[in-house]
Amino acid sequence: MTVLIDGKKIANEIKQEIASEVELLKENKRKVPYLAAILVGNNPASKTYVMAKEKACKSVGIKSTIIDLNENISQKELLQNVEMLNQNKTHDGFIVQLPLPNHISTQKIIENINPIKDVDGFHPMNIGKMVNGLPSFLPATPKGIMELLKRYKISTEGKHCVILGRSNIVGTPLSIMLSRKSPNANCTVTLCHSKTKNIKKFIEKADILIAALGIKHFITADMVKKNAIIIDVGIHRIKSNEKKSGYKLVGDVDFENVYTKCSYITPVPGGVGPMTIVSLLSNTLQAAKINMH
Ligand code: GUN
Repeated sequence: MTVLIDGKKIANEIKQEIASEVELLKENKRKVPYLAAILVGNNPASKTYVMAKEKACKSVGIKSTIIDLNENISQKELLQNVEMLNQNKTHDGFIVQLPLPNHISTQKIIENINPIKDVDGFHPMNIGKMVNGLPSFLPATPKGIMELLKRYKISTEGKHCVILGRSNIVGTPLSIMLSRKSPNANCTVTLCHSKTKNIKKFIEKADILIAALGIKHFITADMVKKNAIIIDVGIHRIKSNEKKSGYKLVGDVDFENVYTKCSYITPVPGGVGPMTIVSLLSNTLQAAKINMH
């Protein structure tokens, strides 16, 4: 029997845990955690994500603000906004929603975020701490995936984990987290990417397969090992007559066919997505706690 990994359910459980902690802070007259999100331009997906993050904050009692900036903002002006958030005492943490317009250096922006407010965990200081196994803000999607594996009590130790995609946001940090010396990790990790030769040869060897390459329905049933654990990070909007809206979301995995062959699988939507948002909430709470000391 294949187990459907219900990210929505686990995310709701974690949200309740966060909400209780926030409630306790309020009862004790402590500062209520406060997140800010900078959104540059009109990228519809980015807008949707940022709004979802704001809604999630509200649902657990975390305060939030969206700072909407024009597509044509200069890098200098954006850096001024970042510095304003670095300095102010109101916001415990903030994010700059990616991608940014091409005329802005993403790396330059990230490097100018104060690491103690970097709830995305993208600053080199936080990445460096993560690599060394020190406490830090962990990037939201990999953190959410680790939490899913843990809460479903999926044994990872000694397993061969194949990650498809080496982005700074998902694949690269996840490869480090899964290979860490820890009971919930201890995997042997292979990180595949666009220059990997004969990618199928690696996919068929995966005990745990993480699909984060951004190609719709790339993973088909014939590619995966029987009883593999499948984590689908992809999210694609496709036209569909099944839905009133006229479209539906699908992942990097051909879910219907892979489902019958694997032991665990995350659906799209309702798998990794809700965990990404909840990890940001958890990081924001963590930032607020750091600020109290
Ligand atoms: N764009 C896609 N995922 C993310 C994320 O986790 N954080 C930010 N800031 N931008 C993103």
